[in-house]
Amino acid sequence: MRHFCGLRRPVTQAMRDGVAEDFPEIAWIDDAELRNRTIEAWSHSLCCSSFTSMTEIPPEGNPGAPVLRRGTQADHLRGVVRLAIRMADEITTSYPEARVDRDILLAGAICHDVGKPFEFDPANRERWAADPSVTGQPTFRHSVFGMHVCLLVGLPDEVAHIALGHSMEGQFIGVSTECMIVRQADHGWWFLAGAVGLLTPESTAALSPMLRARPTGMR
Ligand SMILES: [Fe+2]
Repeated sequence: MRHFCGLRRPVTQAMRDGVAEDFPEIAWIDDAELRNRTIEAWSHSLCCSSFTSMTEIPPEGNPGAPVLRRGTQADHLRGVVRLAIRMADEITTSYPEARVDRDILLAGAICHDVGKPFEFDPANRERWAADPSVTGQPTFRHSVFGMHVCLLVGLPDEVAHIALGHSMEGQFIGVSTECMIVRQADHGWWFLAGAVGLLTPESTAALSPMLRARPTGMR
């Protein structure tokens, strides 16, 4: 049987409002059209899956590794946006001649994992496990599905490039300035989470055998 990865239900205004509420950093994008299209990208992607909110997606980098002990995918997504902006602010403050497109950086960081509803969808994962010889496993990784969604909703190539290039696929292309910042923020966020003991022990070891995570505790 053929499978089609399109919408499972229509994109509603309630869905768009939910995305904006779950992801307040979207409001930091200056350009209104760019801002609205990031909301559209997340809304569209969620409606291609069984998830109704990004907070329902498990807090994992890839399915199964690395895995946060608590929280949701939204905690990772929002953290990466804030970290990317802080990194850009640091370098452009210290070196005023350094140029970063802030809106593209924000939109790219917001959409870097926009393909995760597809890759994490339980029905998709069950289907892929049933006969990978037919479907592939996964059919598309989140970075690839994310690029597709970005282009579909009319986001610029520069943002779709970040969705594609932030992850392993970025090893095979020349990455833009903003894509490199999102890559560092994304990967750095997972290593930071590992170092302070926020990841499960198994996934900490898988992330880096060099890491000696500190147990968490109240101050
Ligand atoms: Fe990520």
